[in-house]
Amino acid sequence: QKNVGILAMEIYFPPTCIQQETLEAHDGASKGKYTIGLGQDCMGFCTEVEDVISMSLTAVTSLLEKYAIDPKQVGRLEVGSETVIDKSKSIKTFLMQIFEKCGNTDIEGVDSTNACYGGTAALFNCVNWVESSSWDGRYGLVVCTDSAVYAEGPARPTGGAAAIAMLIGPDAPIVFESKIRASHMAHVYDFYKPILDSEYPVVDGKLSQTCYLMALDSCYKILCNKYEKLEGKQFSIADAAYFVFHSPYNKLVQKSFARLAFNDFMRNASSIDEYAKATLAPFSSLSGDESYQSRDLEKASQLVAKPFYDEKVQPTTLIPKQVGNMYTASLYAAFASLLHNKHSALAGKRVILFSYGSGSTATMFSVRLNEGQHPFSLSNIASVMNVAEKLKSRNEFTPEKFVEIMKLMEHRYGAKDFVTSKDCSLLALGTYYLTEVDSKYRRFYAKK
Ligand code: ACO
Repeated sequence: QKNVGILAMEIYFPPTCIQQETLEAHDGASKGKYTIGLGQDCMGFCTEVEDVISMSLTAVTSLLEKYAIDPKQVGRLEVGSETVIDKSKSIKTFLMQIFEKCGNTDIEGVDSTNACYGGTAALFNCVNWVESSSWDGRYGLVVCTDSAVYAEGPARPTGGAAAIAMLIGPDAPIVFESKIRASHMAHVYDFYKPILDSEYPVVDGKLSQTCYLMALDSCYKILCNKYEKLEGKQFSIADAAYFVFHSPYNKLVQKSFARLAFNDFMRNASSIDEYAKATLAPFSSLSGDESYQSRDLEKASQLVAKPFYDEKVQPTTLIPKQVGNMYTASLYAAFASLLHNKHSALAGKRVILFSYGSGSTATMFSVRLNEGQHPFSLSNIASVMNVAEKLKSRNEFTPEKFVEIMKLMEHRYGAKDFVTSKDCSLLALGTYYLTEVDSKYRRFYAKK
């Protein structure tokens, strides 16, 4: 099969959010810590009527409808998520309700889990399937769905929630350059969820930042080596139009891109001009470990990278800044932001994506864009996702109300025998919502 990749996308995030500026004041953090320090504007969250299953039901149903896809035409469905609702029954099986109704139960695939990386694993599974001898000519469908919530404390403002659905097949407008791909996988305890009766992770924030940057460096080095073997010339940040990062919070994205510029400097790549060389020269002899600790290097490389950042990264940051960390959906929400902002100017461009899941698993990979053909065109994807409208029609909650909802959700997590308020007044038409968890922990949903 030729030009296998993403044919169509849909994104869903809750219509409920809190401004970071408001949360900052409520938490007693210094002014600007969440907005400038973390680089976040707003945070989306699920209320008691929404969860990862309802969000993914909404995203999948909407994608099938808006691109007029017959559910019988889906042959593989893969879900990436780190939000555990059931230790055995996959989220994929909940989504089968949509397909069973149409008489299609012949669909391979289950859930993939490793922190924020599961969506990328699911995506690769689908792309590999379409490229393989097992492919039966039907579409692959990938769903990334997560509700990121943290206990009260410094990590709380880095929550978020969303579901993204992506249709996979040949002749796509977003084509995988599967040879330009590099991974870094290791055993670290930076962020994990060993407490099975709580939705909150155990997180070493500082360590997770360093692990992320180390994985980024490793992936970039390997990707550059592979590219050079393949193309016979050096790779640098000048060779891709855009860089899309897994985005726990925007400041880390700024630091990550700066890190790539520093890598280019160390490799003597063509993207680095004389001014940049002079600025970074004092750091050329730092050891790897020292380089992660050096605040001066961080500042210098951010300064050098700034013009490139504005051009190659800034257009990818809208949804992650507005919704927060969406875990598995975060990278693809950043990519969706790029399609939203630049859809008419992307044909022929290469985009590099970096996926990171704590624990840790990471891959950097490349896609090549073309306008495609309706309904699978970049402009149609942007118009279906309708990002501006979705962001605009959200409802801002007070910190008091937000905290109250978090407390209620703590009690509801893993609980049985309750009905929700069924209050769907804030949800858009067509949104799924949770109505009940019965005495046998079975979950029930309705559609507005
Ligand atoms: N005005 C402007 N900037 C400020 C202010 C202020 N008033 N106060 C602090 N800052 C800056 C800090 O200097 C820092 O920026 P810097 O790193 O460029 O120096 C930034 O704001 C954050 O401040 P910290 O003191 O470092 O924040 P803290 O340690 O309290 O928490 C953290 C930040 C660790 C990211 C926390 O939110 C967390 O643990 N989040 C979850 C973990 C995470 O997302 N890790 C990322 C990879 S793994 C994953 O995806 C889950």
